[in-house]
Amino acid sequence: MNQHLNANDLTTVVENDKAHIWHHLSQHAPYEKIDPRIIVEGKGMRVWDQHGKEHIDAVSGGVWTVNVGYGRESIANAVRDQLIKLNYFAQTAGSIPGSMFAEKLLQKMPGLSRVYYANSGSEANEKVFKMVRQISEKKYGGKKNKILFRDRDYHGTTITCLSASGQPQRASQYGPFTPGFVQVPHCLEYRSQFEDSENYGEQVVKATEEVILREGPDTIGLMCLEPVTAGGGVITPPDGYWEGIQNLCKKYDILLHIDEVVCGVGRTGTWFGYQHFGVKPDFVTMAKGVASGYAAISCAVTTEEVFDMFKDNSDDPLNYFRDISTFGGCTAGPAAALENINIIENEDLLSNTVEMGHYAIDQLSELQDKHAVIGQVRGKGLFLGAELVKDRSTREPMDEKMVAAVTANCMSQGVIIGMTNRSLPGLNNTLCLSPALIATKDDIDEIISSMDVALSEVFE
Ligand SMILES: Cc1ncc(COP(=O)(O)O)c(C=O)c1O
Repeated sequence: MNQHLNANDLTTVVENDKAHIWHHLSQHAPYEKIDPRIIVEGKGMRVWDQHGKEHIDAVSGGVWTVNVGYGRESIANAVRDQLIKLNYFAQTAGSIPGSMFAEKLLQKMPGLSRVYYANSGSEANEKVFKMVRQISEKKYGGKKNKILFRDRDYHGTTITCLSASGQPQRASQYGPFTPGFVQVPHCLEYRSQFEDSENYGEQVVKATEEVILREGPDTIGLMCLEPVTAGGGVITPPDGYWEGIQNLCKKYDILLHIDEVVCGVGRTGTWFGYQHFGVKPDFVTMAKGVASGYAAISCAVTTEEVFDMFKDNSDDPLNYFRDISTFGGCTAGPAAALENINIIENEDLLSNTVEMGHYAIDQLSELQDKHAVIGQVRGKGLFLGAELVKDRSTREPMDEKMVAAVTANCMSQGVIIGMTNRSLPGLNNTLCLSPALIATKDDIDEIISSMDVALSEVFE
């Protein structure tokens, strides 16, 4: 700590923050009147702010990241030991933790065999988009370069990832965008696009096929989807959906990319979200939970079949993936990720995630019985959403401001929950929970009872 500060006085930190920091995803006008929150310390499921106030964190660092919880000394030690040995060398060469983590990771991903390191979810997704564009050039004479993405999904913050944004409020005002990205329908039955929702999953697949046929299958190289849509409202796909999507990809020779930036490495109770649905992806990207935020790391993982396409003619100077991520060579990422995955195994956190996920959804359902404002609860593992409505029969979405009042009320009680945030016009109405995979029943009870109080105070 800065020697000019008293242990309990972070006034200077707050002043500096107000003067110099441009916070992510934040409207700054309110900070002219109130102080920004500074998170000072974390342990397990809990964090403390500049006032020493304790919070239980039901969103793993705000954005579903700190999967193994705060204050893990074994990860800190693994990173420290590695940094002293070798902090960095470009990934044109290999590293011990890079090699060891890839091997460990791929044990959890049968059918996939190559890991490309980068350092953010957006960047990993961009790698896949670039690979697909290069495959289009190499294999199809420039055809099959279009990339399909889904309404309500999000794939990152760069201009090209925003070109694949199914969340208009994230993309708005940042165009012009990269050409060649085409939207397919969302799969949230609660907000069905069809008059009759019977066999909803199959209907969405059919509507997706219509987009493929409209565009021309010979123009489409990739379908990029979240396994469970995260920021677009915690959308668990309906029965029949994934099977149908896999069949479409096979039928029209479209590579399948699953964006596991949120769901990857345990969040939904399996190592990867797609593993709930028997899907065989050609690409998987991951970031947030890979090292639980102890170091920046993301991975784009693919098959040997895709990898081989980039080395078939070694005399051609352009016949390889001419891409680098400078910080993809930082060794802290895979060192932290290796220890992170060891923790999940040693503490059996996947089983805990399944068990606590069931418990949490039951508790949310009880809350729904009590509060008419909860239209639907949904989720998988410790990744849960409660969609708020003005009227259950019409499903008219609750105003974003009222939903924000619920999260603010929980915050004042010392419980940090999330909500869909400036993503979908008129539909930023889902409360989100994604506690660390170490959550206990007591933790869940504390979170749910604060939501109970907040819903009563805001709506009754
Ligand atoms: C599904 C999904 N993909 C990609 C990203 C982008 O990741 P990053 O912010 O690390 O670039 C996010 C971020 O929230 C995400 O939710």
